[in-house]
Amino acid sequence: MFVLAHPVGHVRASAVMNAHFESIGKNVAVSPLHVAPEDLGAVLGAIRKMRNVIGFGVTIPHKIEVIKHLDEVTATARDVGAANFVRREESGRLVGDNIDGAGFVAGLARNGVSPAGKSILQIGAGGAGRAVAFALAAAGARELHIANRDSAKAQALAEAVSKAHPGCTTVSGPFDVRRLDIIVNTTSVGMKETDPLPVEIDGIGPDTVVADVIMTPPVTPLIARAAAMGCKSIGGKIMLDEQMKLVEKFVLA
Ligand code: ATR
Repeated sequence: MFVLAHPVGHVRASAVMNAHFESIGKNVAVSPLHVAPEDLGAVLGAIRKMRNVIGFGVTIPHKIEVIKHLDEVTATARDVGAANFVRREESGRLVGDNIDGAGFVAGLARNGVSPAGKSILQIGAGGAGRAVAFALAAAGARELHIANRDSAKAQALAEAVSKAHPGCTTVSGPFDVRRLDIIVNTTSVGMKETDPLPVEIDGIGPDTVVADVIMTPPVTPLIARAAAMGCKSIGGKIMLDEQMKLVEKFVLA
């Protein structure tokens, strides 16, 4: 397998995948590939002809662009508008999926938290935010409030999620942090130690779960604040760990 990225130095997924495949005794090797945006189509054309490639991961900046080069995408990848894993079938057909959101929900489950029936606040409506919002609604969230610096993006995402999952009341706009079951940060605010909190959480109840998709640092200012308040807090690393199991299922299907 490969992980296609540009730049490529920050890519950790290939090492995590190699460790995962080794731990389950599968004879699969994963290598990062530095692919410039203008070469994506040519590289995909070559991968179609590489008969021992079972699939590849796609990361920044290719997740959206890759879709137009694929033969098929799952409903999730279509809804999110981006793919992060592609399976190469024996014939060379390429099938894309987006398991960012499912990985996040699986990470919650590993911590004993289910979105089903819950009132949730999500901060952020970028690439990760789109994936997480659709996955939370698919997992049975009752109410999903989406807030974002660019409020038009939050509104567009809320409308798209409502359409795909009418059972989940999805809105953007004002929210009351005191009546939420789960708060999720999907923005990049918190990657730097000096970052402010992506949302003020004073006044939340001790039963509120606070989660962050940021993997580095493992403890963001938001996670540290929630933990200090006695709330259950879930960092982003578990999301990548859980994605490995989903990748295995998807590419080895
Ligand atoms: P990713 O693929 O990692 O989700 P992205 O699509 O660029 O990256 O999305 C980044 C998210 O972080 C967006 O929700 C972005 O808000 P905007 O849509 O308003 O740009 C949010 N974000 C990034 N920097 C931010 C900041 N300084 N303050 C608030 N939100 C920020």
